[in-house]
Amino acid sequence: MKLEVSPQSSTRLLSSGNVILVTSAYKDKKNIVTLAWKTPLSHKPPLAGICIAKTHFSSELIEKSQEFIINVPDLNLLEKVVFCGKVSGRDTDKFQEAKLTPIKAKRLIKTPLIAECIGNLECSLIDVREFGDHKLFVAEIIYAQAEEELFSETWNAGKAKLLYHLGGKFFTTSEKMIEA
Ligand SMILES: Cc1cc2nc3c(=O)[nH]c(=O)nc-3n(C[C@H](O)[C@H](O)[C@H](O)COP(=O)(O)O)c2cc1C
Repeated sequence: MKLEVSPQSSTRLLSSGNVILVTSAYKDKKNIVTLAWKTPLSHKPPLAGICIAKTHFSSELIEKSQEFIINVPDLNLLEKVVFCGKVSGRDTDKFQEAKLTPIKAKRLIKTPLIAECIGNLECSLIDVREFGDHKLFVAEIIYAQAEEELFSETWNAGKAKLLYHLGGKFFTTSEKMIEA
């Protein structure tokens, strides 16, 4: 027997991988948004896509600055991930409220990265497309770094407790590494 799932809820049947915190900045504003919807798109050049609701403040900042940073949180940051996914940066400085530390990026000039995250990917925007109520931001990854104790070839899934969003208030985390 299978349970019927409404088309609106059916995205929850798909995993888009680990949750990310995307930073953006324009003029005197900087922001953090929690995202589950993202995907790698190409090896050569290295491209990634992130999907953000049109109405979110982050969409506005990224379109204006033409850049963003994908920061990879782990289980230790769960509370901050939920906070940055609930509050709009229009009226709140999420770095300050969530006590996350903005650090100058290696290549990008405007957007800060989050020191507490275990990985950071600096992205330069190359395209934006609208799909329904979201925008897909496609960018080239121009610099990336990861915690050396947690990453070698790939994340060590036993040590790095990556966060996965199951929908609503539900999350899960990586447990062990399986080599096939
Ligand atoms: C776990 C989680 C995953 C989320 N994933 C997305 C996403 O993929 N795309 C999106 O537009 N919003 C997503 N959201 C909602 C935004 O993070 C939220 O609306 C945020 O407050 C928007 O912030 P901003 O207006 O400062 O950009 C997610 C929220 C949570 C808690």
